[in-house]
Parts: sequence; structure tokens; C-alpha cells
Amino acid sequence: MTDAFASVPHEPGAPKPDPIVTAKNVHRHFGGLTAVDVEHFEVQRHQITALIGPNGAGKSTFFNLLTGFDKPQTGEWMFNGHSLVGTSPAKIARAGKVRTFQLTKALNRMTVLENMRLGAAQQSGENFFRALVPGTWKKQESEITDKAEVLLKRFKLWEKRDDYAGSLSGGQRKLLEMARALMSDPEMIMLDEPMAGVNPALTESLLDHIVELKDEGKTILFVEHDMHMVRRISDWVVVMAEGKIIAEGPPQTVMSNPAVQDAYLGAHHDTDLSEDAS
Ligand SMILES: Nc1ncnc2c1ncn2[C@@H]1O[C@H](COP(=O)(O)OP(=O)(O)OP(=O)(O)O)[C@@H](O)[C@H]1O
Ligand SMILES: [Mg+2]
Repeated sequence: MTDAFASVPHEPGAPKPDPIVTAKNVHRHFGGLTAVDVEHFEVQRHQITALIGPNGAGKSTFFNLLTGFDKPQTGEWMFNGHSLVGTSPAKIARAGKVRTFQLTKALNRMTVLENMRLGAAQQSGENFFRALVPGTWKKQESEITDKAEVLLKRFKLWEKRDDYAGSLSGGQRKLLEMARALMSDPEMIMLDEPMAGVNPALTESLLDHIVELKDEGKTILFVEHDMHMVRRISDWVVVMAEGKIIAEGPPQTVMSNPAVQDAYLGAHHDTDLSEDAS
């Protein structure tokens, strides 16, 4: 745990000394099912926060709400002190907060470089598909290409720039998702299961990239089932179960918290929380 959390109590909804995100009373239900019921949530700036919890806990739904892809029945949430209630995903991206996007079918049929251009388009609010038509960017175009080149080299995808995104391996796709999100220079980046489907050879490099982003001053919030990874890189862990935040703290203490262990057991989850699990 870094000093930033020295004064933060290890309890659900704990206020942080310098929050970049604050959410209050966020409630999302689907019919009779409560997916998210978060009373208070804060993310400390310049740190790596992990959001964990058993399957169906509401983690992805909460991510979608925070990034404008879904709307809650009630709640308010702020980014850098500005309310994001009712704000579109594109506007949220322009405000400096970006969630990675899984490579959908449409994106698979675009090249790696086209995907990067799209990341830039999301930043400027350009029309999604017009952004891909040559010439529409004019002045910005070379700037965007230069930036894409730097990022693709950094993520070791430059050789693949003209390949279809659909031809990439699981790990390379995760790298592309991250590289694309960085096209808009976000202050904060949100990753939903960055390690899912990644082979061990690329795991280390993905971890290094995430830590590097923190070293550059970015704030990272990620959802992950791989507890080895959570323990390795996160400064702070927030645990959700049945829509609520049930525990918070540094990785070492949170995973031995009985309430957390009960939540995982109750959900018949196969995640091993023990220290020697990898
Ligand atoms: N669009 C939807 N319509 C109906 N129910 C939904 C919808 N999206 C999510 N849910 C339900 O809300 C609950 C929370 O789902 P969510 O995907 O947020 O969980 P999660 O914590 O991300 O789980 P996992 O670890 O499996 O990804 C689940 O019971 C899920 O079935
Ligand atoms: Mg999920």
C-alpha cells in the first residue's frame, strides 16, 4: 500500500484524500434484480484500484454506469469534481476518463491502425465512421498517425498495424484495447478484466504496462478475477458482492477479510483468495 492510503479506513465507501471519482447512492436494477446498489465510492487519484467480487456482483454494470454506457435509476457521480450524471460516453472520454472497449465484431474487421484512429475519434467527438474515411481529418490526421505509431511501438503492435484486429491473439487484443484508450490521453483509464484470455507469455508485459501508466501519473481502475494480478499491482482493493461494496483495503488485508471470503464461497466462485494462489 502506498502512503496515499495511510489515513484511509479499511471499510466500505471509505473517503479518499484526493478522489478523482466520487459516486453516491448509485442504484441500477433490471426488473426485480438489483445489479448495483453502491452507497459511496471513491477512487484515489494516481493510484491503481482493483474492483473485485464474485460473478454477477455488479462490477461490469457499475463500470458501464461510471462511463455513461448505462444509466442508473438513481445516483450521482463526479469526475474531478464535475457531475457526470446524464453525460454521454464520448463526453466522458473527452473529460479525461476512458474505459477500454472490447473488440466487437465490427472492430475486428478493421485494421489495428484503424482501431487506433477510432480511439482518437472518440476523443474529439468525431462521428464514429466518418473518422475512418481518408481526408476527413485533414490537419489532425498526421498528428493522429504519429501518436498511433508511438503507442503501437510501445505496445509492440507496430508490425501488426495493417492486420485485422480480429487476427490478433487474446493478449495482443488486450494491448490494442489499452493502446486505443491512450489515444485520447486520458487522466484515468478503466479496464474490465485486462488479463482474461491472455497467455502467460504476455501477462508480465501487460502488468508492466499498467504499472507504467501509473508511473506516468494516470489513475487506473480495473476489474479482475485473477487474484495474483490484483495482489501484484493494486494499491487498493474494493470488493463488491450482490451489487454492494462489502469491503475495501490494501490487497493483503482485504482478501483475508471473512466477509470477502464468505461472499466468494456463497457465490460458489472458483477464485482462490489464498496467498499462495497464482
Ligand atoms: N442488461 C442486463 N439485463 C438484465 N440483467 C443484467 C444486465 N446486465 C447485467 N445484469 C445482471 O446484473 C447482475 C450483475 O452483472 P454484472 O455483469 O455487472 O456482474 P459482474 O460483477 O461484472 O460479473 P462477472 O464477474 O461475471 O463479469 C447479474 O445478475 C447480471 O445477470
Ligand atoms: Mg463483468
